[in-house]
Amino acid sequence: MSITFVPSSSAFWLDGKGVSYAFFINDLGCAEHLYFGAQIPHADLRYARTSGAQSTLTSPPGKDGAESYQNVPPEIAFFGTGDYREPCVQIETAQGDRLCELLYRSYEILKEKPPIPGMPSLRGGETLKLCLADPVNGFEADLYYTVYDDASVIARRVVYRNGGTQPIALRRAYSFSLPLPDMCREALTLHGAWAKERQPERIPLHHGVVSVDSKRTSSSATLHPFLAILTPGTTETSGTAIGFSLVYSSSFVLKAEGNPDGTALVTGGIQDFDFRWTLAPGEEFAAPECVIAYSDEGLGAMSRAYHDAYREHLISPRAAHAVRPLLINNWEGTQFSFDLEKLKAIVDGVVGTGIDTFVLDDGWFGKREDDTTGLGDWVVNEKKLVGGLRAISEYVHEKGMRFGLWFEPEMVSEDSDLFRAHPDYAIGVPDRPRCYSRHQFVLDLTRKEVRDTIVESVNRILHENRIEYVKWDFNRNVTESFSFGRAPGEQQQFAHRYALGLYDLCERIIRANPDIFFEGCAGGGARFDPAMLSYFAQIWTSDDTDAEERTKIQYGTSLVYPLSAMSCHVSDCPNQQTGRTVPLATRAVIAHLGATGYELDASRFTDEDRAETARQIREYRACQRLILNGDLYRIDDPHTGGFFTVSVVSKDKSEAILVCYRRFGSVNNPIKRVYMAGLDPARTYRVAELGLTLPGAVLMRRGLVPAYPDGDFTAVVYHFTAC
Ligand code: GLA
Repeated sequence: MSITFVPSSSAFWLDGKGVSYAFFINDLGCAEHLYFGAQIPHADLRYARTSGAQSTLTSPPGKDGAESYQNVPPEIAFFGTGDYREPCVQIETAQGDRLCELLYRSYEILKEKPPIPGMPSLRGGETLKLCLADPVNGFEADLYYTVYDDASVIARRVVYRNGGTQPIALRRAYSFSLPLPDMCREALTLHGAWAKERQPERIPLHHGVVSVDSKRTSSSATLHPFLAILTPGTTETSGTAIGFSLVYSSSFVLKAEGNPDGTALVTGGIQDFDFRWTLAPGEEFAAPECVIAYSDEGLGAMSRAYHDAYREHLISPRAAHAVRPLLINNWEGTQFSFDLEKLKAIVDGVVGTGIDTFVLDDGWFGKREDDTTGLGDWVVNEKKLVGGLRAISEYVHEKGMRFGLWFEPEMVSEDSDLFRAHPDYAIGVPDRPRCYSRHQFVLDLTRKEVRDTIVESVNRILHENRIEYVKWDFNRNVTESFSFGRAPGEQQQFAHRYALGLYDLCERIIRANPDIFFEGCAGGGARFDPAMLSYFAQIWTSDDTDAEERTKIQYGTSLVYPLSAMSCHVSDCPNQQTGRTVPLATRAVIAHLGATGYELDASRFTDEDRAETARQIREYRACQRLILNGDLYRIDDPHTGGFFTVSVVSKDKSEAILVCYRRFGSVNNPIKRVYMAGLDPARTYRVAELGLTLPGAVLMRRGLVPAYPDGDFTAVVYHFTAC
């Protein structure tokens, strides 16, 4: 990777793995975009600049006849000085004007990317810092660009600063602008709902704005903080795909604007609806990072770029490639109805299967017998759990397993000692009743004393007990967006301050307990975002554990996130969410495409169930490292047909698995041939299940016809080893 400044053309070049990015400082002093795409030799790219029709365009302030900002493909679009496209930033000065011109001042090339104080971002990578400033009001923006030699991504962010002498309000403070050429005509987004997270949707770009956002103070299941812009007809293996993935966990927006000249301008970051942040002279504001991936080999290569970037530069190095806990969780098995004997029986049920961690889910604390009470009271309910956590933890450890525990640190029940003592700790507006969701309120993480209380009570449980795993849940969204701790003029800082408070909690609980493995969760997968992934190496993908539905959810999630990030469990049938019955073998095949576990009442296991579970776990263990670290190739999309097929290939291409799932069995259907993907065409592979040894090229070009077991919802797995 390298970052170069070419004085003769005032151009900056950033070269990462397979990608080049170039812009230059034009005669106006603007950072003007030139190129983002497959790696190319450095040349003076200004030959292909375009300028629009002049008649209705507005010149920059004081420069009659000069090129309009509207014509400049901007590295950062600003408002009020002739550019009418979606600005990256909007300010308001003390006198009330909203004008802004961000012009070149200086640059620095940094060997290592500086972290964003208080906010997660990718680690490492050579970084360009480009300093821009407004010539009149002193407003400044430092644009950061980072490239990597092991992932085809560029990370971008902005630090805004008030370099003037009067306060300046930020009314919008996005993270980047990126102009894209006219062939980018489609958008791909991930929409969803509870139990239906991250469903891909493709829509044409049009004149005007295509936008995805959240106003929930969380990244949300409804619209994901991700957008890809595609050339028409882009498939898994062909076409250009440029992804935008925000490393952020609160309200966000990502937009692509189709312009009259056929180009598109992509921008986004912190949600600017209900946002206003005033900077005193000298103060700065850091926008979160956006990770922009480039592929001209379709969506598959775009996803693999994200998987590489996130495994190598975002997920904690200690966990990123580590073998994960293989757990039994009691939630779907018992919900709130358990006692010590029941939990012990579940543990007994899995002894000898290879499951190595028992996770006690919701209901162990306060007076919690259902979801109406107890959140915030992180004190064990000894009436329900005789002997306390120590009794069950000791029992689990005696059986040679590790012990895990569920928390929902950000929440409080109205019926809790914490709420009775500190009603103001719950987010709410004075003299107005609060909105309920799952009967609970959200704690005001923007206040330090509230965070201190949470840290103290959660860390006490973690320190007083032998706990090796924590599931951190978040089961409702914020409604009131108001803090008792802020002045009236600061209330629109709330959503971002919540994110900063959340990251502070994560630092003080997760980073402060490095020997405990933390899994994220949010009423299923409603806060499955890159920022959370930097703290939680795996995240509960969805409360929908039905294997058929999971094929779609896991397919959509894999567009951005590696399999190792997805926590996936085998559960009982009929499935608790859909009522569907899927063969146990298939449930295991689908749940094993990630960081796996079991979530059922194992106290009812027969010897046969135990033996089958042990067999499944042996199979998983045999290819666990491949699944967690390999390259993913999506072959059949369950959203568009009756099949879900993926291969996972080791980085050195010495081994691979092919997972083939068929929704419905029927007779006399067209032949279903699967073309293996990702192998080395020149190497020979043994396919254990078929007793075949064939060149990779043959397996990929001639394909194979999977022997799906009879019936609906069946699956078959093939293992490939290079000879
Ligand atoms: C959420 C989680 C579930 C479970 C319950 C417990 O819904 O997604 O896995 O932990 O909370 O209340």
